[in-house]
Amino acid sequence: MEAKGKTRRALVTGISGQDGAYLAKHLLEKGYEVFGGRRRSATQNLWRLDELGIADRVQIVDLELLEYSNILDAIRSIAPDEVYNLASQSDVAVSFKQPIFTSEVSGLGALRILDVIRAIDPSIRFYQASTSEMFGIAAETPQSETTSFHPQSPYGTAKVFGHLASGNYREAYGIYAACGILFNHESPLRGVDFVTRKITSGLAMIRAGLVKTIALGNLNAARDWGHAADYVNGIWLMLQQDQPEDFVLATGQARTVRDFAKLAAQCADYDLEWSGKGIGEQAIDKQTGAVIFRVDEQYYRPAEISLLVGDASKAREKLKWHCQFSFEDMVLEMVRADIDLLKRRGRIF
Ligand code: NAP
Ligand code: GDD
Repeated sequence: MEAKGKTRRALVTGISGQDGAYLAKHLLEKGYEVFGGRRRSATQNLWRLDELGIADRVQIVDLELLEYSNILDAIRSIAPDEVYNLASQSDVAVSFKQPIFTSEVSGLGALRILDVIRAIDPSIRFYQASTSEMFGIAAETPQSETTSFHPQSPYGTAKVFGHLASGNYREAYGIYAACGILFNHESPLRGVDFVTRKITSGLAMIRAGLVKTIALGNLNAARDWGHAADYVNGIWLMLQQDQPEDFVLATGQARTVRDFAKLAAQCADYDLEWSGKGIGEQAIDKQTGAVIFRVDEQYYRPAEISLLVGDASKAREKLKWHCQFSFEDMVLEMVRADIDLLKRRGRIF
């Protein structure tokens, strides 16, 4: 193993994702040498690092979470002080179609890293990206670190495995393993299949005349939506404590998909009239009569979680973590960013 220098080294898996980009920027600002784990791709997929202006400061390493040898080689050669495991098949709807793959990546993937750390250097600090999806049909509202798990998707069950494996390696081998139970967090860098960005990018494309309507699933689903830039600070703080512990990060406020769509439409200067119920619900542009939102059953899930809202008291007290972005600021930023992106590039990524 290489000797560790004074500059702290962090390995971030899932560097091509939303949180990977924001966390890498945060770590660079803290003076870390940052290594980003990326799985093989036939196309350039590091555009988020470009958007944040850090592409040339992150050292990219091959890291396929299904491939134990990749994890071993990366950790052995980098000798990181901290490993942040953000890589995941993170799309809940996709997890119903690819349950085995999702479990391999999002569940066993965490265990592979933990076992490499155990074997090579148990002093390496490990962060696991756990999720509010683990609560599923929640036993109580709001959900905290002590709420029991009742996941409703293959993704949720895989994440419960990764969460429990992290706790097990902490207790069995004394590894500093901390899990962040993060509620939904969004940004202009969010993947376009997640509902918030689907709405904001869809509105930008409607304004540009590229599409006519946005088709959504369950408009009544309620989530606790924060901003990714706030959440990566909480992630970093979790690895800076004396003892490893699990923390919920959340805003404590729930909004429905409909609430998000209404506010985003206002931010894009649409005055909408909503009518109908269930599959027949739609929203029409009062000026033109065009249908802006409609419901399509194909976006319903085999099992849905109607409400998730978190209690982040522990993170506020112990980590001194707090959010800078309000919900309104975030929605406005996302809508403006997508309108701007279309102007700059002529397409949404
Ligand atoms: P994301 O944008 O979907 O990014 C996921 C990352 O994982 C991507 O870089 C992806 O690479 C990578 N990945 C997927 N399969 C992989 C594999 N087999 N080997 C190596 N890398 C792989 O997710 P995110 O929003 O940044 O979330 C980061 C983490 O937090 C995820 O673990 C997610 O499950 C968890 N989480 C997210 C939220 C949220 O609201 N955002 C909330 C709670 C927990 P490609 O680009 O090649 O696909
Ligand atoms: N994606 C999507 N597309 N969701 C829709 C749509 C649609 O057209 N219409 C309604 N929804 C509803 C979903 O049914 C869900 O209840 C809610 O909007 C949010 O869906 P997503 O944005 O896909 O996020 P998620 O909550 O399922 O999962 C995200 O957050 C989790 C944390 O709770 C992902 O980032 C997960 O990786 C993360 O763990």
